[in-house]
Formats: sequence, structure tokens, C-alpha cells
Amino acid sequence: MIAWTTPGRRFSLAPTTQGVSLVRKAVIAGNWKMHMSCAEARAFADSFRGQVENLPEDRQVVIAPPYLAIPTLSEALRGTPVAIAAQNVHWDKKGAYTGMVSAPMLLEHGVTHAIVGHSEPRKYYSETDEQINLRARTAQIYGLIPILCVGESLDQREARETERVIHRQVEQGLEGIAPDRLIVAYEPIWAIGTGKSCAAEEANRICGLIRGWVGDPDVIVQYGGSVNPATIDDLMAQPEIDGVLVGGASLDPIGFGRIVNYQVPVGVG
Ligand code: PGA
Repeated sequence: MIAWTTPGRRFSLAPTTQGVSLVRKAVIAGNWKMHMSCAEARAFADSFRGQVENLPEDRQVVIAPPYLAIPTLSEALRGTPVAIAAQNVHWDKKGAYTGMVSAPMLLEHGVTHAIVGHSEPRKYYSETDEQINLRARTAQIYGLIPILCVGESLDQREARETERVIHRQVEQGLEGIAPDRLIVAYEPIWAIGTGKSCAAEEANRICGLIRGWVGDPDVIVQYGGSVNPATIDDLMAQPEIDGVLVGGASLDPIGFGRIVNYQVPVGVG
């Protein structure tokens, strides 16, 4: 891994299974899940603004609030480098889908990214790889960047099925998807909300495999699962990890501020 720093921007020549990436900008995303009212989102933004005032240009920050708080957060963070994501997106542009939200509705509020395939909707609402693929396709059609989440359960890891499970999720989730407008997040289910983060080296190994399966050395691959201010620098020093998807630790503006201002030594990461 060769890396060098120019003022405010880090370029890297990252050897990957598919060749060499010239520039992969890190993407640090917060997933608020079902937390934060509009008033709480506004208070978060007031405090978080200062954290991104001197954000290095080698990284992008994205926050996915609940749908209801999107207009408030989008407005409250206007003029900052923070982009807004949706926590999901429907595959149709409108119709009789009670409770759902479409891509055109999100675009109206400046949303640029949409999480798809998170393990929680996979588990609680039985989302399938086929539906997730449709959501990702629709997102791209409307110019949203899908953040496709993949990852194995503890049982699957213990049964040595990790690679097979993730390979299937990548293959089916990304059918017909352009890799240059895409983020994939490796989120081992056993690491989500448990405080048990995956070891940085192992997360790096899986992110490298995912990049190879996607087949594009420039695709952004994140790690997610119990990321916090104490683990971020180590994760971001890994050559195959281009960012993180953060749940619980993204709710605190100061802690998330530390995460987005992660530091890696020059020559690493
Ligand atoms: P966590 O959640 O950081 O709270 O583990 C991550 C996620 O679900 O994206």
C-alpha cells in the first residue's frame, strides 16, 4: 500500500485483487435507525456543525436519519459537507405501498444516498436479495447512491459459511448495478449493536474479497458493526476499508465527530 498526502487530500495506490485504485474517497456514514425526532436532529446538527468545519477533503460524511427527520436535518446541515441518506428506498416510484417511501420523494429533500439490504429489514421484514436488488437499481436510476449492506450471522460464521453467504448477497444484490455509483458495506450481523467489533484485519480481508467480487478496484467498501471512536483509526488504517457505517455511535455529535475526523498515519490506510 502506497499512500501520500497533499494538503487536505489523501490519494492512495491500493493494491486490490482487481488491480490498482487511484482514488477512493472514504465515506463515513451514520445510520440513526429509529432514533431522533426532528427536534433532536436539529440539536444534533447544531452541535455537529463544528465537527465538520475542517473536515479533510479525502472523506465524505453521510447521515441517514429516520424519514421524518430528513427535511429537518437536510435544512439544518445546509452549507456543511454532510450528505443525507435514506435508511431504505422503495423499488417503485409511486403506488399502493402503505408505509413506504420512494426515490423521487427523497430527492425532493436533497437525499443523495440510500441504504439497502441492512440486516434489520432483512430480518424483521423478510427482505430478500431480489427485493434489495430492485431497491438498489431504482436508487441508481434516480441518481441515488445505494449503500448495499451484506454480512453473515454468527451461526454462518461458525459454520464457515461467511464467504459463501456474502458472495451470494453481493452477486444477487448487485445484478444490473453500476459499480461506479455504489457503496458496499460489510456488516457482520454478530457485530451490529453488540459492542463486539470485527477485528480490523478480518474486516479488511472480507472487504478485499467483496471488492474482488464486485469486480471494480474503485468501488467503495465500508465496514460496519460496533464502530466507535476507539476503533475508528485502526479500521481506517486498513487498505481495503474505505469507510464505515456507524449505528449507535453516530447518535452522539461529539463521538461521531471524532469518528469522522479519524486519523491515520501518513503512509498507512
Ligand atoms: P452499530 O450499527 O454501529 O450500532 O453496531 C451498525 C449498523 O447497523 O449499521
